[in-house]
Amino acid sequence: MAGNINLHAANKAKKDEFYTQLVDIENELKHYKQHFKDKIVLCNCDDPRVSNFFHYFSFNFEQLGLKKLITTCYKNQNRDLFSKNDSDRAIWLEYFGDRNNNRVPDPEEIGIHYFNGDGDFRSQECIELLKEADIVVTNPPFSLFREYVAQLMKYEKKFVIIGNQNAITNKEFFPLIRDNKIWLGYGFKGGAGHFFSRYEDTATAGDHRAGMIRVSGVNWFTNLEIQKRHENLILYRTYNPKDYPKYDNYDAINVDKTVDIPMDYDGFIGVPITFMDKYNPEQFEIIGICAGNSRLNKFYGIVPYTPHVEDRGGCAVLNSKRVYSRILIRRRKPTGDVVETCHGASLQGEHPKPYEQPENTLPLAAEDEIPYNNPKDVPHTPSK
Ligand SMILES: C[S@@+](CC[C@H](N)C(=O)[O-])C[C@H]1O[C@@H](n2cnc3c(N)ncnc32)[C@H](O)[C@@H]1O
Repeated sequence: MAGNINLHAANKAKKDEFYTQLVDIENELKHYKQHFKDKIVLCNCDDPRVSNFFHYFSFNFEQLGLKKLITTCYKNQNRDLFSKNDSDRAIWLEYFGDRNNNRVPDPEEIGIHYFNGDGDFRSQECIELLKEADIVVTNPPFSLFREYVAQLMKYEKKFVIIGNQNAITNKEFFPLIRDNKIWLGYGFKGGAGHFFSRYEDTATAGDHRAGMIRVSGVNWFTNLEIQKRHENLILYRTYNPKDYPKYDNYDAINVDKTVDIPMDYDGFIGVPITFMDKYNPEQFEIIGICAGNSRLNKFYGIVPYTPHVEDRGGCAVLNSKRVYSRILIRRRKPTGDVVETCHGASLQGEHPKPYEQPENTLPLAAEDEIPYNNPKDVPHTPSK
């Protein structure tokens, strides 16, 4: 991806050392202020010497009405990295607020504790702190994002975290999105952020900032209630078969841009993953995802599907060409009734009718293990 650090690549190379700007944290967290009163906040991938998450919560402790702030600092073994994690032992801090009324978190007000281990968020020591926390807020290592989210879900924590929007197509993560257990926050302008880092920045000159990298496809993920996810996407276009062709292998129409979703189509619609940024579960239902190995989603009981030689385990195929990952959605018709979605979550709207597979339909191909959204496999027809 020209002009950007690609997080998929960062993930593979385990390039996890980039640091969030205070302004980005402020811009997002201003929408969540009501959630923090009397809560214990944990930032568990945060060296307090460089973490603006620690800065934000310690300086806003009283204003948010926090009960306690815990920050854990991973002792990274790689000394070449930008991190200042250069003390002999990993530490964690706890802060109970301003005691001397100077409105600044002074060193003597911050309790410093040493870990026996390296402060890995998966270690038992860190898990004990996680159990104590109400809300976890951080930018975790992208290379461990799946594990990181799985742990939050296991311990049933509330969270606001930064991640790569490609995570949406991941086979463990997507069901959480589909079932309204995780949603996107307000996000970064244009879906890209600048982070402090020593990695080489390949951003175009106009977008280059000294000492920073530009990261594309970055977003906030949360399970805290926010107004944004109850706002309807305003639609302008109406359906016609010419502009909205059906896929070769799914009984669903293709939409390349979220703004072009037709307002009057009641069938299945394939939309790009950027749709998730506009998703309101009262307006649309998410049915499944069409991506490499998405047959594992088992949503074919709902959406008519015919295996296609080009579909690599479930990608949508349009005019014999695979398209980028598509989320299959269906418009809700608000009836005021509380209903169950086809995946079990209760929402308002009309219950979608399960599709009955006709007997003469081709049998499903054997489920294979093609990784989701492998960039080498998928894109042939880029979104406009
Ligand atoms: C993307 S950086 C973000 C740092 C900080 N949260 C921020 O936003 O400025 C992710 C951080 O997680 C740390 N990290 C890597 N692996 C970790 C692990 N297993 N447990 C805890 N932290 C880890 C890295 O050293 C890195 O500093």
